[in-house]
Amino acid sequence: MRAVVWQGIGEIAVEEVPDPKIEQPTDAIVRLTASAICGTDLHFIRGTMPGMKPGTILGHEGVGVVEQLGDGVRNFNLGDRVVIASTIACGNCSYCRAGYYAQCDKANPNGTGTAFFGGPESAGGYPGLQAEKARVPFANLGMVKLPDELSDDQAILLSDIFPTGFMAAELAEIRLGNTVAVFGCGPVGQFAIASARLLGAGRIFAVDRVASRLAMARAQGAEVIDFSKEDPVTTIKQLTENIGVDRVIDAVGVDAERPHQGPAAKKIKPQAQQLDAEAKQVAPKQHPDGDNWHSGDAPSMALQWAVESLAKAGSLSIIGVYGDNNRVFPIGAAMNKNLTMKMGNCNHRAYIPRLIELVMARAIDPSLILTQHEPLTDAISAYKAFDTRQESWIKVELLPTH
Ligand SMILES: NC(=O)c1ccc[n+]([C@@H]2O[C@H](COP(=O)([O-])OP(=O)(O)OC[C@H]3O[C@@H](n4cnc5c(N)ncnc54)[C@H](O)[C@@H]3O)[C@@H](O)[C@H]2O)c1
Ligand SMILES: [Zn+2]
Ligand SMILES: [Zn+2]
Repeated sequence: MRAVVWQGIGEIAVEEVPDPKIEQPTDAIVRLTASAICGTDLHFIRGTMPGMKPGTILGHEGVGVVEQLGDGVRNFNLGDRVVIASTIACGNCSYCRAGYYAQCDKANPNGTGTAFFGGPESAGGYPGLQAEKARVPFANLGMVKLPDELSDDQAILLSDIFPTGFMAAELAEIRLGNTVAVFGCGPVGQFAIASARLLGAGRIFAVDRVASRLAMARAQGAEVIDFSKEDPVTTIKQLTENIGVDRVIDAVGVDAERPHQGPAAKKIKPQAQQLDAEAKQVAPKQHPDGDNWHSGDAPSMALQWAVESLAKAGSLSIIGVYGDNNRVFPIGAAMNKNLTMKMGNCNHRAYIPRLIELVMARAIDPSLILTQHEPLTDAISAYKAFDTRQESWIKVELLPTH
């Protein structure tokens, strides 16, 4: 079968690889019909998330049809159409039973946090979902049956992006009427905005510098701030009578960028050396190719702005991904404001059934963020367009070749 394979930092390709096989009784083999690209995939290629093994199939978003079932999978039939949760979890350990699927004790052989498809060895090293077929471990839990009414375009965002945005809003402890700021308006940020709205937020600020993404946030009713034109902290303070926001969601992560023009760039000038050193520590090895695969030049920028824009006793939700080598956080400022912080990898499976209902009820329109469809054969050019922010979200269509 064909799949998108990580060969090294800055090197990915569509390759012919062996078909997956049932290895455990709780496995299923799914013939994928759709996958997608997430900001997490970009971290691996840009060199900001270490530990990928060459030859790993990328991708952790998938919708498809069940083709084979192990004897231990009793709740699905061959031919069922399913969405696959990005995070792999056993369902039996104490963490799974408490809904902390991203901390499953069994799915990650290394036992240190999340296990997911298409990730580094520290996350289990499982082959990913940007492929024609995939082995789904613990398939009884990790697959969720899709109603016929949901198209692939609607269903694919339920694998990762929507649950992640929703959990981000939940971790932020958004209550009715709260004023919220979402840093980063990529796919995760867009769904964090939508989820903040669903949880009853009063005002939502959206911060980024990509015009098309800010336009999408504005179309959702968010009040937009372009950090290449204004300083986000000053503007948030101005627009909230100097109070700040009650809740912040960091939907940026390790590839955060610093402003290069406008008043925000001027303000952070004294920090330039510290940010350079941080960026170097986070991504010691890089392999840019023209406009592509450039790592972020200010890993702690979004976190700094988040803490500065929060009102006293506010809450910070960190859903953007940071690796073990990220060491910089404005702890003093956060402590002295009595902030609450919650963070982590998404417990996808815990949210998927509920979110299917919300999409069915048209509480959210996935077409809002899906800007492009590409066949697997064009996956590399799709990656390049997503990496340079020309497209907001790209569904990879897995058309049968035989
Ligand atoms: N915790 C989880 O389980 C989980 C799941 C999925 C994705 N993620 C993470 O969420 C993050 C966002 O994912 P995505 O797919 O939307 O990524 P993305 O790369 O498409 O979007 C990131 C956005 O942040 C913007 N940005 C960069 N620097 C900024 C700054 N200083 N302030 C404000 N905005 C800034 C970029 O312009 C971009 O639009 C990534 O770190 C990804 O790894 C986490
Ligand atoms: Zn993801
Ligand atoms: Zn478990």
